[in-house]
Amino acid sequence: MTAALETSTRSAFRLQRDGDSAILWFDLPGKVNKFSSAVLSQLDDSISALESESGIKVLVIASPKPGMFIAGADLEEFRTITTGDEASKFVRRGQEVFTRLWKLPMVTVAAIDGVCLGGGTELALNCDYRVMSEHPKAQIGLPETKLGIFPAWTGTTRLPRLIGIPAALDLILTGKTLDGRRAQKVGLVDEVVSSSVLVDVARQLGARKGKKRGLESDRTHFYVEGNPLARKLVFSKARSAVREKTGGHYPAPLAAIDVMEESYSSGYQAGLRAEVREVIKLAMGDVASSLVRLFFMMEESKKERGPAPKEIRSAGVLGAGLMGGGIAQAIVDQAGVDVRMKDINWQALAGGMKSASKIWKKKVERRRMTRGEMARKLSRITTTIDWSGFENVDVVVEAVLEKLEIKQQVLRDFEAIGRQDAIFATNTSTIPIGRIAAASARPENVVGMHFFSPVDKMPLVEIIRGERTSPQTVSTISAFGRRLGKTVVVSEDAPGFIVNRILGPYLNEAGYLIQEGNSVESIDKAMVSFGMPLGPLALLDEVGIDVAGKAGEILNEAFGERMPPSKLLQSLLADKRFGKKNARGVFLWKEGKRTGVDPSLYPLLGLGNPKEGKRDAMIERMVLSMVNEASRVVDEKVAASAADVDLAMIMGTGFPPFRGGLLRHADRLGVRFVAERLRALEAEQGIRFRPSPAIERLVAEGKSFYEAYPVRQG
Ligand code: NAI
Repeated sequence: MTAALETSTRSAFRLQRDGDSAILWFDLPGKVNKFSSAVLSQLDDSISALESESGIKVLVIASPKPGMFIAGADLEEFRTITTGDEASKFVRRGQEVFTRLWKLPMVTVAAIDGVCLGGGTELALNCDYRVMSEHPKAQIGLPETKLGIFPAWTGTTRLPRLIGIPAALDLILTGKTLDGRRAQKVGLVDEVVSSSVLVDVARQLGARKGKKRGLESDRTHFYVEGNPLARKLVFSKARSAVREKTGGHYPAPLAAIDVMEESYSSGYQAGLRAEVREVIKLAMGDVASSLVRLFFMMEESKKERGPAPKEIRSAGVLGAGLMGGGIAQAIVDQAGVDVRMKDINWQALAGGMKSASKIWKKKVERRRMTRGEMARKLSRITTTIDWSGFENVDVVVEAVLEKLEIKQQVLRDFEAIGRQDAIFATNTSTIPIGRIAAASARPENVVGMHFFSPVDKMPLVEIIRGERTSPQTVSTISAFGRRLGKTVVVSEDAPGFIVNRILGPYLNEAGYLIQEGNSVESIDKAMVSFGMPLGPLALLDEVGIDVAGKAGEILNEAFGERMPPSKLLQSLLADKRFGKKNARGVFLWKEGKRTGVDPSLYPLLGLGNPKEGKRDAMIERMVLSMVNEASRVVDEKVAASAADVDLAMIMGTGFPPFRGGLLRHADRLGVRFVAERLRALEAEQGIRFRPSPAIERLVAEGKSFYEAYPVRQG
């Protein structure tokens, strides 16, 4: 290599010449390369410099950051955009700079050695070729629709011309990312090599292949892309699939389809204009604003708080049941930590191993891992019926039966043999951490770590801080939860913690609605149309009526008249209906799938033929009952902020992300309006709807939830 040629001392870009080739290094200060307006201008300057350089035949664009090519646009800046004009300027600027890149006279090759998302992928699309490394973090994709927008820096117009319309739709509409091999398969990258030779291979490939002519590639097939009728069919199918999947709540994928269609019917330039026009509408709308906020809430939740966490190098799991097996699997798979799993008999342990291996088997079937990898991972969970191997673990996650005495007993037994500083994290769903910790000689090491079922699918873990839990224990277990790939929300030690406490009144209200003669289907359909992934009654069967019953008892004990258990739960339990687990519940079950409402349900409840309930009125009752309880949760500081409640509800129950969360939804309705409706419902339905003192106070102060309960830094 010859001496480096600096384009600008302050630029994130550095041009390094080497004979008739050059490398443009993108290295923004910090861990992440991203495009703000300022960085786009710096790229623009580098392109000007390249235009006036002579003798460069091949230009490789690369990043020196390990595992990071370009993460996309700078969302911090995107978030500050408030007018259509500003948005339009930002979008056009990206298009202009990338188009200039595409028009450079030399061959351009993106050398992707890590994360390549959104604007990063669009930069790569405006190079002649793309070479990707086998770095474990190397992923390429266009996740914009997950933020309520679509790729508008040429991506939506350009991608289908490179890889064909069907493959481009698949990537843009789902926002999924691909590793090198998959990306090569669909034609998005030209070669996949190891990191050590990436830049050299990129340079050689550019020299070998020469400047690309035109936009199209051999991946586009004339009978789809060149045939208006076939295109129409593909686009209309894609629209129906999106509507079916999103219930029409997410406008971005539909807008992306419109833009793609327009770019084919009216040409490339028209496509770029349509990108600007359509993305601005989305960027200014509520859905994008909710999804971008959610992105920042997730980022906020990843920040470490309190004392530096201790490292977890080994773990134990107590109880190999439904939860224990899944937790052990997650610890090995996500954190790469060995697990010692204990139960009271070998049969239960075999069950736990089976549920862990089932999760890995699915990955093998989807070609996400090899059989060899699966065998190696499985061997990292060892099993025992005594305490051998627990002497040195850094943490045990306790998932034995939901009985206080048993939990206290295993805690005492563990403390007798475990290390002084080992953490005892209980997965209890209902028992106060303080009560379990009462049996402990070291209560500062006892904490709640509440996973949701099924562990491999549910992205939330509530960390529950007992009265005597030390800040170090909270920060260590929070960091451990994040290492397991989970979103972590800290809850104080109060009945039902955050999620189950808010779900309590919601499920109860569904029970009341049935008792009033509304059909199960109409109740569930109403909430699905609101955007929940599952209706409340289907949810009840899924989580287990026994589990919900136990949680209901605890809530009733704690909150009395506000949460009287609905008759529905009692009747189902008296009839030994536990839901999915015993294939008897509100629904009929066959081979683990719901097949329809059990017709014997209504006679069991002493009801005649049900009626179709009024959708909007039912949604209002179920949603406001949650809002009312959530207002107490945040006012009592069980959750630290309105954003924490929303994050927990989105991640723990699937509360519709496009609404930004439960309290954001309430803020959009207006707290005054919420209070008025609650008062009206109180008059109609009774005291359970009385607005909480917190809501009344917000009305008096004229504040929203997010204003009254902001995220506190530090
Ligand atoms: P489960 O009944 O499937 O498993 C419990 C296991 O603990 C059984 O295999 C049992 O043999 C074992 N066990 C009993 N006494 C033991 C002892 N002294 N030492 C070691 N193992 C012992 O129960 P599941 O559903 O896995 O629940 C476990 C815990 O997780 C409970 O505290 C529950 O409240 C909590 N939880 C459950 C959720 C669910 O959806 N099932 C969700 C979140 C938390």
